[in-house]
Amino acid sequence: MGYLSNSQRACSWWSSLMRATLLLLCLFVLSSPQSPAITTSTATSLVGNNSKSVSDHSALISFKSHIYDDPYGALSSWDNKSLHFCQWQGVTCGSRHPERVIALDLPSLGLSGTISPSIANLAFLRRLSLQHNKLDGSIPQELGHLHQLQLLNLSVNFLEGQIPSSLANCRHLSWIHLGDNLLSGQVPQELGSLPQLIDLVLPTNNLTGAMPTSLANLSSLDNLDLSHNMITGGIPPWVANLTSVTRLFLGLNPLSGGIPSSLCRLPSLARLDVPENQLSGMIPPCLYNLTSIRILSVGFNSLGGIIPSDIGSTLPHLRYLDMLGNHFIGLIPSSLSNSSGLLRIRFQSNNLHGKIPRNLGTLQNLSILGLSENQLTAKEADDWSFLTALTNCSKLTKLEIGNNSLSGVLPNTSPQISRSSIFRRTRYLEACLQI
Ligand SMILES: *[C@@H]1O[C@H](CO)[C@@H](O)[C@H](O)[C@H]1NC(C)=O
Ligand SMILES: *[C@@H]1O[C@H](CO)[C@@H](O)[C@H](O)[C@H]1NC(C)=O
Ligand SMILES: *[C@@H]1O[C@H](CO)[C@@H](O)[C@H](O)[C@H]1NC(C)=O
Ligand SMILES: *[C@@H]1O[C@H](CO)[C@@H](O)[C@H](O)[C@H]1NC(C)=O
Ligand SMILES: *[C@@H]1O[C@H](CO)[C@@H](O)[C@H](O)[C@H]1NC(C)=O
Ligand SMILES: *[C@@H]1O[C@H](CO)[C@@H](O)[C@H](O)[C@H]1NC(C)=O
Ligand SMILES: *[C@@H]1O[C@H](CO)[C@@H](O)[C@H](O)[C@H]1NC(C)=O
Ligand SMILES: *[C@@H]1O[C@H](CO)[C@@H](O)[C@H](O)[C@H]1NC(C)=O
Ligand SMILES: *[C@@H]1O[C@H](CO)[C@@H](O)[C@H](O)[C@H]1NC(C)=O
Ligand SMILES: *[C@@H]1O[C@H](CO)[C@@H](O)[C@H](O)[C@H]1NC(C)=O
Ligand SMILES: *[C@@H]1O[C@H](CO)[C@@H](O)[C@H](O)[C@H]1NC(C)=O
Repeated sequence: MGYLSNSQRACSWWSSLMRATLLLLCLFVLSSPQSPAITTSTATSLVGNNSKSVSDHSALISFKSHIYDDPYGALSSWDNKSLHFCQWQGVTCGSRHPERVIALDLPSLGLSGTISPSIANLAFLRRLSLQHNKLDGSIPQELGHLHQLQLLNLSVNFLEGQIPSSLANCRHLSWIHLGDNLLSGQVPQELGSLPQLIDLVLPTNNLTGAMPTSLANLSSLDNLDLSHNMITGGIPPWVANLTSVTRLFLGLNPLSGGIPSSLCRLPSLARLDVPENQLSGMIPPCLYNLTSIRILSVGFNSLGGIIPSDIGSTLPHLRYLDMLGNHFIGLIPSSLSNSSGLLRIRFQSNNLHGKIPRNLGTLQNLSILGLSENQLTAKEADDWSFLTALTNCSKLTKLEIGNNSLSGVLPNTSPQISRSSIFRRTRYLEACLQI
């Protein structure tokens, strides 16, 4: 009995670890976005006159004056009188306008301070990358004067206040990354008027209110990430208007209501990530037909219904299937073996019954299989054949099958299995086996 309670502790420890992992995984994408290349050809409407470079110089000086801690001396070249400001670290000037700053890239330098509003005088600026520093204060609304700005990355700082609606004046903005800050207020509805917006990435802030309807205008949007905020309301049906979207991250919010079936009209949707909301109802059946889906992550909601028996054939490109912590019923579809690229299946804490399909053992890349806390059964020795089959999954590292109705004897081959690599690889197997 002591062994049993130990194992229970181990498993519940693992399930909290899993929640933490889920949180982390929200931030990663399987198919990473192509790194944005700044186009350099659109300056036709601009006057090729370098006399304004004086103001670029003073804007940079003002930027530096607002930085009070520069632990790695990143800005020391900015004091070197024998260097032109175009040679200062992090500063890039244009080739057509050789004395105008087109990019300011100072990421991950431990800079503390605020963002000087004077930066708005860098009229040719296309890229502002200040991510992963210790900047605080607010995002200056003056940034709206940067009419050439294409990329704004202020992620991972301590910026607070609201997202300035003036950013809607930066007509060329394609990438807005403001995640991991302390931003509050609503997502400005004005951002819905940015015709070239590709990434709107605002996770892990304190944003409130519903998703503004104006975002439905963003026909170029590829990646919408509002996860880990305080976004309320539901997943609006108009997300179907985001016809270019491939990734939707809306997890860890208090979103309620159902998953709209209009999502099925998104032909390129590869990742639907909505864990840890208060979503209820069924997953729209047509979503199980959306062949583009690679990651379906709906864990820790109040969703229900039967997982379709042919899911593995209708979603052939699945990598992650996370449905844990819901009310799903029915059998574990054996067709999952047809979705041969599956890396992770997490069905824990649902109401699934029946036997564990042995052909899951054909998933050669399967790394995590979580089935605990369901009503899965095993009585006959043959019901345990899934375990033998899983020894073929050479990448399996976590197998959780505790708190089901698995009884009887382990397969005859169990001595071989316990000597085989599966027991060495699946650290949690023994801890989670409760028979
Ligand atoms: C099994 O259920 C018990 C009681 O609900 C719980 O304390 C334990 O953490 C569960 N174990 C697993 C492996 O889920
Ligand atoms: C640049 O602008 C200044 C003042 O606006 C003007 O005097 C000068 O002639 C211009 N130079 C060129 C090359 O256009
Ligand atoms: C200033 O820059 C020049 C040219 O790169 C360099 O030779 C010189 O050592 C720098 N001076 C200081 C004080 O860093
Ligand atoms: C923005 O910065 C974050 C944090 O360092 C990084 O993960 C992301 O790739 C950056 N995005 C762009 C478009 O530069
Ligand atoms: C969204 O588009 C509609 C028509 O396409 C337009 O009337 C509306 O002003 C746009 N909203 C925003 C916020 O740009
Ligand atoms: C988030 O916003 C809410 C409502 O505006 C506020 O009560 C709360 O203190 C904020 N939390 C943080 C961490 O800023
Ligand atoms: C979404 O697109 C449809 C069809 O193009 C249009 O009728 C509808 O007004 C759009 N919804 C929003 C909220 O813009
Ligand atoms: C899924 O696709 C199949 C084949 O195209 C079709 O027969 C079925 O009706 C679709 N199901 C839903 C719910 O769209
Ligand atoms: C896998 O897909 C094939 C072809 O669609 C189908 O005949 C077979 O029954 C599927 N396997 C399972 C286990 O569903
Ligand atoms: C398994 O993973 C490897 C390495 O990532 C990949 O090359 C292979 O195609 C995957 N197998 C399947 C069936 O997807
Ligand atoms: C494991 O894979 C081998 C080779 O593909 C196959 O012959 C064997 O039947 C598989 N074992 C199980 C238990 O599925």
